Amino acid sequence: MSEAKPSSAESSALVQGGTAPLVCALQSTARQDVSCFHFPGHNRGKAAPSSLSKLIGSRAFLHDLPELPELDDLFSPKGVILDAQRQASQLFGSSKTWFLVNGTTCGIQASVMATCSPGDYLIVPRNCHISVISALVLSGAVPKYIIPEYNSRWDIAGGMTPLQLDEAVKELEEDGKRVGAVLVTSPTYHGVCSNVEGIVSVCHPRGIPVIVDEAHGAHFRFHDSLPSTAIEQGADLAVQSTHKVLCSLTQSSMLHMAGDLVDVDKVSQCLQLLQSSSPSYLLLSSLDAARDQLSKNTNIFDEPLAIASETKDQLMRIPGISVLDLPCFASDFPAIDPLCITLSASDLQLSGYEADDILYEDHQIVSELVGTRAVTFAVNLGTRVQDIEKLVQSAKHLSEKYFFANSSKPMKENRVWAHWRRSLCI
Ligand SMILES: Cc1ncc(COP(=O)(O)O)c(C=O)c1O
Repeated sequence: MSEAKPSSAESSALVQGGTAPLVCALQSTARQDVSCFHFPGHNRGKAAPSSLSKLIGSRAFLHDLPELPELDDLFSPKGVILDAQRQASQLFGSSKTWFLVNGTTCGIQASVMATCSPGDYLIVPRNCHISVISALVLSGAVPKYIIPEYNSRWDIAGGMTPLQLDEAVKELEEDGKRVGAVLVTSPTYHGVCSNVEGIVSVCHPRGIPVIVDEAHGAHFRFHDSLPSTAIEQGADLAVQSTHKVLCSLTQSSMLHMAGDLVDVDKVSQCLQLLQSSSPSYLLLSSLDAARDQLSKNTNIFDEPLAIASETKDQLMRIPGISVLDLPCFASDFPAIDPLCITLSASDLQLSGYEADDILYEDHQIVSELVGTRAVTFAVNLGTRVQDIEKLVQSAKHLSEKYFFANSSKPMKENRVWAHWRRSLCI
């Protein structure tokens, strides 16, 4: 069922063919010496507003091209877009891949609309992303919510388990309801992965398609120590924000498909319904470029993974600082994204918001996500060793400052010391 990560032989084949067709097409069109009478009105940068072109350069405008014949058509691709999407599909192990210009949001909406008719049930985690709620509105599907495990110490929820899903499906079956699809968020924003393979094994014997909101897991295919991807685990549709951990431009995503439970044409039609008829070629070519970057660099995640692992180890040794990990949950979740670092300073009596403010104002550290109890940092291909050293140093300062500030509060100090004495065995 599952498609393995590419072997080194396959990877080197991808390296040889590792061009970026859309990027190349954009480049050759922009090089033409032609008189343009088409949109956009900045006319390949000749009339670009100076405030922005001074900031980002005129070349961004030169390549901001419309759907010219040689640049293909996103909604009926036969040329360079088809080629670029096929190369992405090969790399990500799908049977078909669509490039998206309205983020994972529109991929989730299209996936739900293509699988659920009005009145059908969509089984979803209660903490799903807002795009799932709009997908319910657009499709007319009825939600059957699953409540994920919640850790109140962290104020963070986990994933969905196959057992929870099995119970929900059986409940609906007993009531004679039709389940259109199951939607799983894996990984969550905090990196917690669900057992997608187990979820698929509950759904597929009943003919229920599995959609995975894999917005935060687009990088999973590119290292053996990263969790398995949703498609590798047998999901029918997986939507990934290539613009999150990977390196395409904000708003560009990919929708991957596998198997034959879902109607390909229906997905294409729903995507056309939801997206602009003037898709940005800067966004599209950034997806092609991101795919090309991964095809050419097989060990690209070695360093970020090593850095993230070392950082977690160091943070965990700082008194008063905790790092979110799988043992924080009672459920047997299969993995947590090693590039996602979530820390808590609640043993220093600091909320996530307070810790985040201090890290930003005093140490110029900008996090990805903040909550009442925790702050999350995203490690990626651009993370530098000095950034990570600064994060660890700043967490140490936080600990030193607030650990001693709390010494005037005996109960809190006792609690912190007791915790650290226990964990350090002193
Ligand atoms: C879990 C989850 N799903 C979906 C989305 C939507 O992704 P996009 O911003 O690519 O539309 C997000 C965005 O943050 C998200 O966190």
